[in-house]
Amino acid sequence: MRTQEQRQWAVQSSKVAMRTKNPIRMIVDKLDMNSVSKDKPLISLSIGDPTVFGNMDTDHSVSQSIARAVDTRRSNGYAHSCGFPHARKAVADKYSLSNHKLNENDVILASGASGALDIVIGAIADEHDNILVPTPGFSLYETLCGNKGIECRFYRLDSEKDWETDIDHMRSLINERTKAIIVNNPSNPCGSVYSPEHLKEIVAVAEEFCIPIIADEIYADMVFEGVKFTFLAEVTDTVPVISIGGLAKRYLVPGWRLGWVVLYDKLNILKDLREGMARLTTVILGPNTLVQAALPDVIHNTPQEFFDNINKQLSEHAKHTVNRVQKINGLSLSAPKGAMYCMVSIDVERFAEHTGGEIRDDITFAQALLKEESVVVLPGQCFRSPNYFRIVFCPSIEKLEEAYDRLESFCNRKLNLNK
Ligand SMILES: Cc1ncc(COP(=O)(O)O)c(C=O)c1O
Repeated sequence: MRTQEQRQWAVQSSKVAMRTKNPIRMIVDKLDMNSVSKDKPLISLSIGDPTVFGNMDTDHSVSQSIARAVDTRRSNGYAHSCGFPHARKAVADKYSLSNHKLNENDVILASGASGALDIVIGAIADEHDNILVPTPGFSLYETLCGNKGIECRFYRLDSEKDWETDIDHMRSLINERTKAIIVNNPSNPCGSVYSPEHLKEIVAVAEEFCIPIIADEIYADMVFEGVKFTFLAEVTDTVPVISIGGLAKRYLVPGWRLGWVVLYDKLNILKDLREGMARLTTVILGPNTLVQAALPDVIHNTPQEFFDNINKQLSEHAKHTVNRVQKINGLSLSAPKGAMYCMVSIDVERFAEHTGGEIRDDITFAQALLKEESVVVLPGQCFRSPNYFRIVFCPSIEKLEEAYDRLESFCNRKLNLNK
């Protein structure tokens, strides 16, 4: 029995918790959000949630599906840890491709695409293994690998080639501990959509080194006028493709936290991985059962018109963004083809020269824009791409117009072009 003097509390966070780092949080915390201009209402072009701007809402049929699932009172118990078989079958039916027929055993439901990625990454690699990750790229990959002690090896996307993968660079990063290649198409943050030919080039690297591909396809089919989306598994029968998807973006319900893993694996190369992933699902026991119960209805009965309208709206917003931003002094961008984002390049040398070093990188740019114009953008460093910023172009055209007016006058002022 310890004496009163010997007793003391020493509750600390675990090593795993403390090595869990979200780069976006860390960089956004550097921006002083209280420094907003008081005369101008805040416009956020930084939030990757299409529902928060008030101009995009899910289809009525989608909300009705969940209401029905609640009313039947038959989905209140635990599901299979990989998800209700009928809900997994709905995903399997929807995402079967002409060269890959899926069944429910090829699908695992998870808490959002984030949960799906966590299961796959946790099952495919051990501490000190590595996974190839795109840069610029979605920062969660780094978070999920980092807390498991898995090394991220960042392969370059080429801004001069519509953000295609630098294939030679990708190949040069592979070693005997490389366990997977993550490909994000359409891309957050670049808004790029890869052609079948480019996907084949990536597949050829995976084939050469016998490394499976984790295809983050959460923005599947969210493409703009004249652009066709191709699933990675459409271009290969031999390289195993672990596709990640979910309801969040396409159905405009990110808060429902329903994502999935789909395995395109004709040759049964992933037999052992299936077992590992199934074990990991038993930690959480799958996503919310009400959303799972609604899933077949949501997947099969949401009218095509709803998707067409959203794509049309995003396509117009993208066009508008390119028209405005490419004319702004000191900024440049390549036109996004899908998703909800684009990366804008900042001519930092020019800004540094005209501002006496006040604006010298993407963080100082985003900070000054926030302070003087109340416009929030995410610095490129959140995606390991300094000297860029990311725009989310979901807000209404009127909001975007106002934001781009302010962005333009900010750049002109900083580059002394106002007089
Ligand atoms: C590329 C990418 N993958 C995965 C996710 C996570 O999606 P979810 O909200 O379903 O977890 C996001 C969300 O922004 C994303 O942009």
